[in-house]
Amino acid sequence: MGTVHESSHPLVRHKITLLRSVTTQPKKFREIVRELTSLLAYEATADLALAPVDVVTPLTSTTGAEIIDRIALVPILRAGIGMVDGFLEVIPTAEVWHIGLYRDHQTLEPVEYYRKQPDHPLADVFYVLDPMLATGGSASATMHMLHAWGATRVIYLGLIAAPEGIARLTRDHPDTDIYVAAIDDHLDERGYIVPGLGDAGDRLFGTH
Ligand code: PRP
Ligand code: URA
Repeated sequence: MGTVHESSHPLVRHKITLLRSVTTQPKKFREIVRELTSLLAYEATADLALAPVDVVTPLTSTTGAEIIDRIALVPILRAGIGMVDGFLEVIPTAEVWHIGLYRDHQTLEPVEYYRKQPDHPLADVFYVLDPMLATGGSASATMHMLHAWGATRVIYLGLIAAPEGIARLTRDHPDTDIYVAAIDDHLDERGYIVPGLGDAGDRLFGTH
């Protein structure tokens, strides 16, 4: 069974508050998304597999550790793009595979428009990156695609989740671990997270 992690770190709580503010402009918004993603990536990589490795220091030889899991990031376009650099600051060797989905404004169902992936998954752990988990439709569809492709360990990393999105993702993919900065109150009638931060893609890229 997967677990749900809402960060309690003071830095995360401080920065997500700045991100929510309607006065935060795209340049600052992008910076904070990147910083928050690095902080959450630190939390979400705590159980990666290690192997012992010899290391020679200026004083002696000793045994250290190296990460042996191969990591892939799967940002959901558009807004997930804003999270990639922050994660790569923590794990620079991760591969990045892009999925293009947009949410139909009437049905709120995800519509796929882009997918780039090799024939077989070449990573051990996949991190799906998307700032907003609203109905959960986009994240769930991405998880379906990754599991059908052969990925076994898939983790969701986002910024703000609605309870409805968490319920949908844990129902559709019970083994998924979910890492977010904040779990909000509810979805409004248009499927927006309340209090939320509005449309993450528009705020990242200065569109309307
Ligand atoms: C937003 C967000 C998620 C999706 C979440 O993307 O980035 O992908 O909505 O909603 P859901 O949980 O109800 O599926 P959007 O469809 O607005 O596309 P964009 O990133 O291109 O702006
Ligand atoms: N997508 C967003 O960008 N924001 C929301 O509140 C819900 C879905």
